[in-house]
Amino acid sequence: MKLRALVLGLALGSFSLLAMAQQPIIIKFSHVVANDTPKGHAAEYFKKKAEELTKGRVKVEVYANSTLYKDKEEMEALQIGAVQMLAPSLAKFGPLGVKEFEVFDLPYIFDNYDELHKVTQGPVGRMLLDKLDAKGVKGLAYWDNGFKSFSANKEIKSPADLKGLKMRIQSSKVLESQMRALGSLPQVLAFSEVYQALQTGVVDGTENPISNLYTQKMHEVQKHLTLTEHGYLGYAVITNKKFWDGLPVDIRKQLEDAMEQATRYANQIAKQENDASLEAVKKSGKTQVYVPTAAERAAFRKATLKVHTEMESRIGKDLIQSIYKETGFNPAKL
Ligand code: LMR
Repeated sequence: MKLRALVLGLALGSFSLLAMAQQPIIIKFSHVVANDTPKGHAAEYFKKKAEELTKGRVKVEVYANSTLYKDKEEMEALQIGAVQMLAPSLAKFGPLGVKEFEVFDLPYIFDNYDELHKVTQGPVGRMLLDKLDAKGVKGLAYWDNGFKSFSANKEIKSPADLKGLKMRIQSSKVLESQMRALGSLPQVLAFSEVYQALQTGVVDGTENPISNLYTQKMHEVQKHLTLTEHGYLGYAVITNKKFWDGLPVDIRKQLEDAMEQATRYANQIAKQENDASLEAVKKSGKTQVYVPTAAERAAFRKATLKVHTEMESRIGKDLIQSIYKETGFNPAKL
C-alpha cells in the first residue's frame, strides 16, 4: 500500500513539474497609447512574432491605453517586475534618473527620420540604452512615432501666439524649457489625462505627433493644429533586466529576433500612420490645419534654439555635440 502511494505521489509530482515546465513565460507589455497607433501596432506585431518564434513558450499580453498603468506608474511597475515590457516615450526617462534621453526632445534637432535613425540605429543610441542597466532596466530598441505639432483653440502662426497659453507637456525638462522659450506655461500631465484637461480648459493646448492627437480624439477639443513638426517623439522599448537576464538563452535569442522584426516594422509604419491620421483629422472638419510658411517655421526655430545651450548642463554638451555630428545639425542655419 505504502509503495503504491509513494509511486503515485512521485508520478503526480513529476506530472506537476512537467506541467510547470510547460507553463508559458508571460510578458506583460503595458503602454499608454491606443492600439491603432505606431506603438500599438508594433507591440501587437512583437507579440505575434514572439509567440511564433518561441512556439508558444512565451505569451505576450499587451495592455494598451493606460489600462494597466499610467506614465509614471508604469516605470515603477517595470522596476519591481509587475510588468516585463514597456515602450515609454524618450521624454519620460528623467524621473528614472536617465535624463540624457531628453536630448531627443531638443527642438528641431532632427529634420527628418533619416537624421534621427543615424542616432537611434547607431553607437550614440546604443550608448544611451546601456545607461539604463544601472537602473535595473534593459534597453532593447528604439521605435519611431513622429514629429510633434502644436494644437490649441486659437490659431498658432508665430511664437507670439503661444504666449501665456497653458501647454501640456510630458515630464521632460527640455520640453519645459522649450515651452518657456515660446512664452507659454508648461504643465506636466500623464498622457491619459490630456483629453479631459483640454476639454475642461485645465490646459489650452498641447504638442504631439498627429497619430496620438487623432487616436485620443484631441482634435475634437482643439480648434487649431499647426504643422510645426518642431520636435521628435519616439520610444525606447525596455524590459526588466533581471527578468531578461534570467530567461533561458534560446528563448532570449528568439525574443531578440522578434524585437528586431518588430522594430523594422514599427519604423516602417510610423510615417504612413501619422500621414493617415493627418488626413483623418482634416476630414473630420473639427480642427483647422495650418501649414506654416518657411519664414514662420524659421521663427519657431529661432525662438527655441536657446534651449539647446540652456540644457547643456542637464543632458551634457558632449552628447548634444555628438548628435550634431551624426546629423549635420547646424545651429546657425535658419
Ligand atoms: C505623450 O505622453 O504625449 C506620449 O508620450 C504618449 C506616447 O506614448 O506616445
